[in-house]
Amino acid sequence: MVSLKNVFLVLASAASAATAAAIGRRDVQACSSGKSPNCFCPLGTTLQQSTARCRIRAAADDVIAIIGSYHNTSWFGRTPDYVNGTDNEIGGSRTLTGHTLEGDAQFTETLFEYSDNKKGGFTMAYEMENGPVSYIDPDTGETGYYAGYWDYLETKALGSKLTQFDWRIYACFTPAELAGMEFFHGWALANVNAILMEQGLSTGMAQAPFTIESFHT
Ligand SMILES: *[C@@H]1O[C@H](CO)[C@@H](O)[C@H](O)[C@H]1NC(C)=O
Ligand SMILES: *[C@@H]1O[C@H](CO)[C@@H](O)[C@H](O)[C@H]1NC(C)=O
Repeated sequence: MVSLKNVFLVLASAASAATAAAIGRRDVQACSSGKSPNCFCPLGTTLQQSTARCRIRAAADDVIAIIGSYHNTSWFGRTPDYVNGTDNEIGGSRTLTGHTLEGDAQFTETLFEYSDNKKGGFTMAYEMENGPVSYIDPDTGETGYYAGYWDYLETKALGSKLTQFDWRIYACFTPAELAGMEFFHGWALANVNAILMEQGLSTGMAQAPFTIESFHT
């Protein structure tokens, strides 16, 4: 049986040549809340770039109604420990306990972009504020930390009842083989569709969740 950790390692080594080329470029900046995922992480941490995408047979406004409250995270199975600021206002934050592959850790995430253009184009972006957050892998006792991560939730109306929904992240963490948000994000995307189907607002997914990702050490 191929373990998950081994799959991540294979991905990491395949991506390293591309990273070497990227680091040679002068315009590469430290990872931050800028739009570009073309960035470098603190020394010793690995950059993960991942986009989970699905297409739901539902109106974009209905998808946004489920995902569009920064303080309401029930669609991805979490309840914030506490929130600060006004919902959906830039600078507001939420603090959640993440049950990760690497054990539990508490993350504070601050909203830095919120835009809803009413034509199905929507972006909500936030960054981890309280880095570095350390963790211990409950299986191996191995330790590591998250230096930071930057998340983008994006919808696009492809039709009046067809919406593309992306959850993009880039993250800096160590060690490489332990992290990976793709299964969690894929599950959350499918859960949005399940909620909408229960409400009679979706007729299913036109494209089930899939992930495009790379790991750069
Ligand atoms: C949070 O979102 C869920 C799913 O859309 C909804 O059922 C629930 O009522 C919302 N909670 C609050 C407090 O608005
Ligand atoms: C949230 O607000 C409380 C006071 O209301 C403050 O003590 C705390 O530091 C704030 N936390 C964050 C993460 O901003």
